[in-house]
Amino acid sequence: MKQEVVLTGITTSGAPHLGNYVGAIRPAIARSRSANVTSLYFLADYHSLIKAQDPKLTHQSSFEIATAWLACGLDPEQAILYRQSDIPEITELTWILTCLTAKGLMNRAHAYKAAVDENQAQNNDPDFGITMGLYSYPILMSADILAFNANKVPVGKDQVQHLEMARDVAQRFNHHYGELFTLPEVEVAETPLLSGLDGRKMSKSYGNTIPLFVPEKKLRKLIMKIKTNSLEPGEAKSTEDSTIFQIYQAFATDDEIAQMRAAFAEGIGWGDAKQKLFELVNAEIGEMRERYEDLSTRPAQIEEIIQAGAAKARTISQPLLEKVRAAVGLHAFGSQK
Ligand code: TRP
Repeated sequence: MKQEVVLTGITTSGAPHLGNYVGAIRPAIARSRSANVTSLYFLADYHSLIKAQDPKLTHQSSFEIATAWLACGLDPEQAILYRQSDIPEITELTWILTCLTAKGLMNRAHAYKAAVDENQAQNNDPDFGITMGLYSYPILMSADILAFNANKVPVGKDQVQHLEMARDVAQRFNHHYGELFTLPEVEVAETPLLSGLDGRKMSKSYGNTIPLFVPEKKLRKLIMKIKTNSLEPGEAKSTEDSTIFQIYQAFATDDEIAQMRAAFAEGIGWGDAKQKLFELVNAEIGEMRERYEDLSTRPAQIEEIIQAGAAKARTISQPLLEKVRAAVGLHAFGSQK
């Protein structure tokens, strides 16, 4: 019997980058290979509509992220890969949960609060530019998780609050209507979030990412752009706060890390350190890039995989939603709950 249901999603609002790879895709694929785990990985395209209302971008990003999962080695026999918007149970459940969720709970969500704070700093309208989508974002995310009774949800640190909210909402439902939902547990990645070109967290919203699959030359060029201090070759360098060292670490073996640490102490020049970083990253993703380029020319094949994923995923969400509907009183006349 498979006991562990692991689920995570990536918002489809840009090209997949090294941070997505190291923080989400690589560990998720490794996990999907172990026995006794049902792995559910999805393209969070409904979430992307919250921030990006550019249909081309949403569509393109969704395709790129699906292709990246496959190019990185996800085996659709071992993990269920699907598109959020292909699962009608997610939106159904979102509404049912919305009716149980206290507005006060949503008032406390970090993403919403940050937007209000920014508005208050800039103009007098706290609601400026804030949609109900942004406000209700944690409920959609709860539905993503609860629709499959996932019990392990690996995410970045910034998502921990959303997981607490999902547990809260599940508990409220279970208390009121009966125990249908598993309380999901958050798993925060051990590897720190990767830094980007400017030294801040690598994120699409900062525009400082290194995309996972750019041509080799472009990858080198981007790595050469990583911000460093102005120490000269020959001067000892600290590995702390070094974006180059941090990304290197995420790809290197223990031996390679020790060697790089020594090179820093001995004053390796930034250009050389960047070259070594490029070579290391390129060695790991070179073959994947070839697969990515090949798969990119075959959207119909990827669509087929995604549809098969949705069908598999729905074998879990459909029966669960039937129970949920019955539990809240939405069932056929004359039928027993
Ligand atoms: N909100 C998550 C992020 O921005 C993506 C996401 C959406 C997610 N739904 C999820 C992650 C459900 C885990 C489980 O990173």
